[in-house]
Amino acid sequence: MHVDDAIRFRRTTMVVDADRILERSLIEELCELATWAPNHKRTWPWRFASITAGARLRLGAVIADAMDAHGDDSTKVAKARTKYARTPNILVIGSVPGDTSERSAENRDAVAAAAQNLMLAATARGIATYWGSCPKGAHEAVARFVGFEPGTHIAGIFYLGWARDTPDAPARPPARVIHID
Ligand SMILES: Cc1cc2nc3c(=O)[nH]c(=O)nc-3n(C[C@H](O)[C@H](O)[C@H](O)COP(=O)(O)O)c2cc1C
Repeated sequence: MHVDDAIRFRRTTMVVDADRILERSLIEELCELATWAPNHKRTWPWRFASITAGARLRLGAVIADAMDAHGDDSTKVAKARTKYARTPNILVIGSVPGDTSERSAENRDAVAAAAQNLMLAATARGIATYWGSCPKGAHEAVARFVGFEPGTHIAGIFYLGWARDTPDAPARPPARVIHID
């Protein structure tokens, strides 16, 4: 798939084959491609944790407990317990803190670029991706659960699986470009 087509075709979707897990080697290939993202000062700030099988529910329990302690709505807490089992694969992507707040912000920018690399590479392989945010009060608990260093920001909890269908893209507003000559 041409890179332009992958960019336009990628959608946030979890319409996947629930019974077909992505192999470890494929997850590792996608994470390797992610690491070619631009990264100021070459801090290599990305961290990846692949979650499958029963660990998806254990991740859900850790997140639900953290949300509960944070005072989140009980319906959302109950949903969090099971929702990571909706796709065969979950990928937690973290961004380590920098030595200044500017470096931490740039690390997060680099990790977002890495995440897009990963999603485009997945799209080109027929893999659906869905970027989910980590609930507010759960970053520390998730970092601890997956073994990331303390203070790691959880950039996203990604749902992955072999795509069964890809929704049509709703129209995008045109890019507004200011040209200055
Ligand atoms: C930083 C970030 C966090 C996101 N968090 C969520 C989320 O928690 N839940 C969700 O449904 N979508 C989340 N998304 C996905 C967006 O909702 C999605 O990209 C948007 O609806 C546009 O759809 P598209 O990706 O198919 O173009 C997130 C996207 C980004 C970049």
